[in-house]
Amino acid sequence: MVFLFSLALAAYRERLRGVLPEAEWEAFVSASGRPLRRSARVTGRVPEAQISGERVPWDEKGYFAEIGGNDVAHLTGGVYIQEAAAMSAAAVLIEGGERLVVDACAAPGGKTVQLASTAECVVANDASSSRMASLAHNVQRCGASRRVVLCHGDARNVLASLEGSCCAVLVDAPCSGDTLSRRANTSLGAFLASSPAFREGALQRQLLSAAFLALRPGGKLVYSTCALDPAENEIVVRDFLDATPEAQLVGLDGPGADSALLPGTRRIWPHLEDTAGFFLAKIEKRGGEKPRPPEPKKKRCIFRDQLRAAWGIDEDLGSFVVRRKKVRNYELWIAPRDAPLDVLGVLVNRPGCKVLDALDHLDLETALKRDRVRWTHDFAVSCGWTVPLNHPRRVCLEDENHLVSYLRGHDLILQQQQRQPPLGCQVLVTRQDGLVLGLAKTRLPAGGAGLALKNQLPPAHRLRF
Ligand SMILES: C[S@@+](CC[C@H](N)C(=O)[O-])C[C@H]1O[C@@H](n2cnc3c(N)ncnc32)[C@H](O)[C@@H]1O
Repeated sequence: MVFLFSLALAAYRERLRGVLPEAEWEAFVSASGRPLRRSARVTGRVPEAQISGERVPWDEKGYFAEIGGNDVAHLTGGVYIQEAAAMSAAAVLIEGGERLVVDACAAPGGKTVQLASTAECVVANDASSSRMASLAHNVQRCGASRRVVLCHGDARNVLASLEGSCCAVLVDAPCSGDTLSRRANTSLGAFLASSPAFREGALQRQLLSAAFLALRPGGKLVYSTCALDPAENEIVVRDFLDATPEAQLVGLDGPGADSALLPGTRRIWPHLEDTAGFFLAKIEKRGGEKPRPPEPKKKRCIFRDQLRAAWGIDEDLGSFVVRRKKVRNYELWIAPRDAPLDVLGVLVNRPGCKVLDALDHLDLETALKRDRVRWTHDFAVSCGWTVPLNHPRRVCLEDENHLVSYLRGHDLILQQQQRQPPLGCQVLVTRQDGLVLGLAKTRLPAGGAGLALKNQLPPAHRLRF
């Protein structure tokens, strides 16, 4: 066994020869065998969410801190537990003002959530069905669905259909993950010896080319991997640049260090930054930026009026999309304004934030008029912040015990409210700071005094203790 580990290490050392100084090899191997420092990022959903811990140097919202999946800050979407080196890719891609951004290999979604905090529309795609579920869950948990179109397909097809139209593309490519030994809590030798041979080189090259084609002139892409083998990184990028005269490497000041093999691309090393290993390259499509098309004029829309009538929402949240499920069940969605839904067609899994389901097989207009609709948790979390603070359909949980009970999925009985909400309808349940936690249905409690709330927090978003 030990012999196999040394063999795997020796072969790997050979592969890293052009990028890692010999004098650093021992430090690198030793750092790659230490448990990974845990880290998380503030998403912006909870304005005052804070993480106490050392800051991640390349991301002002990233911290080294122990946050668990059952922490309230995580459950309510205030923070995203994310490896620190991996935070760098979206951070260097986004420059501000991007409208259409593609996250080509997006699941489970850490970088999608980062991108959605600034870009107008993020097309987040992944090829794996099982990983799509966690992508959808994470986007929803962090209140980002209104700006995210979820696609399920091969990124090469998705990118081809968006040819020449994207401001930015992130290719966080499938890779060998050769230094994820730290995450697996094992030595580098054992990790490399047990990893199956990596055969994705051709796919990485095709993803990079497809991403470049999808860019409009002046657009930028970031190619990243959590591997340190040059065959998956510098060599892929160098071959691409050699074959593509319209592409130019954009030098990066940080994070990590410039690669000795291809200066301008960056490497984050476990022994230098005390993170997992990471590689990133930023590439621009020459040709200057096209002027932005004018903002589309706001059209009068029946659904916008209905949203105002039901919740007092005045904000223009995006474009409305009606979907018909099975034969006669209608759903209303809000898609990001620049969503290329017609282009992406069947690949679109979720066009944005699902607002409501019409009940009783009614069409949407009639269902809304008769109040025969079921508003969704996604709507509450993504759009609830636009409901005025004094709206009668907001119920604030002032007591910490009530808050925890609600997050555990329990029904609640509250004292008489200052503003009694209408009975028999769905209300937003909020924390004292205004953060929307989810929905509940109101009714009169058995004794007649106060307010009973039937919990509608979906099981996947509940505290598990
Ligand atoms: C390194 S992971 C992405 C991590 C993700 N960017 C994040 O920050 O959470 C690579 C992803 O690529 C996906 N993938 C593999 N082949 C693909 C393809 N041809 N098209 C799209 N996605 C693909 C895998 O399912 C995997 O989720």
